[in-house]
Amino acid sequence: MDCNSIQIAPSIMCADLCHLEEDIHRLEAAGVDMLHFDLMDAHFVPNMPLGFALIEQLRPRTVLPFDVHLMVEDNDFFIRRLTQIGVQRISVHFESSTHLDRTLALIRENDIKAGVALNPSTPVSVLCHVLEQIDCVLIMTVNPGFAGQKIVPSTLRKIADCRAFLRQWPLDIPIQVDGNVSFKNIPKMVAAGADILVAGTSSVFHKGGTRSENIQRARHAISRGLEMGRLNTTDFEKLPCLN
Ligand code: DX5
Ligand code: ZN
Repeated sequence: MDCNSIQIAPSIMCADLCHLEEDIHRLEAAGVDMLHFDLMDAHFVPNMPLGFALIEQLRPRTVLPFDVHLMVEDNDFFIRRLTQIGVQRISVHFESSTHLDRTLALIRENDIKAGVALNPSTPVSVLCHVLEQIDCVLIMTVNPGFAGQKIVPSTLRKIADCRAFLRQWPLDIPIQVDGNVSFKNIPKMVAAGADILVAGTSSVFHKGGTRSENIQRARHAISRGLEMGRLNTTDFEKLPCLN
């Protein structure tokens, strides 16, 4: 695997929202793989950084895939509205889904890829009866709702647990990680099994560099993770720096 096999998804809530179109063109030029939009309803999480109008207005301005992370109580309402805009993946939280199987079917019947997001304390085993309905697992490495938080340490092992869990089935389901995807954490996250990185304030939008410099630095961090090789849960005992 080379560093481009691991995908970078900038978290748009962390972008320069007052100059967003220019910012997105800078991200495109720097070679990101998709754009990550966090839609929140101020109920499931106490925040609301982005809305439908922003996604709708951006849609015709970039060809990058739109990866939407719903942190809302009424998933089906948001899904129906997003199908009118044109997005490529929608991830819903297991914790906000009363009828998860039906909600995932609603996403897929609109030819959109479906993901399930798990809060740090939610075990990956909750996915065992929807694995055929999903195209991605989104492991929250912080508690959802806000940028700028620090990683929940146990989630590094959880990424490796998720990799081991998914390996039991002949399904090629990528693991996306979201929250404090920093230059320091990226190697560990990749070594643990992350395939898609939601990058926010601690990497792509880090104040210490330009978008291009930060993405190059993130790609180097990915390479360091790939050099470590995919670690298993048991490997964490051997590498105290990962705990
Ligand atoms: C948090 C969001 C993340 C967040 C990432 O609920 O899902 O996308 O914005 O921001 P950082 O990288 O600052 O944690
Ligand atoms: Zn997110």
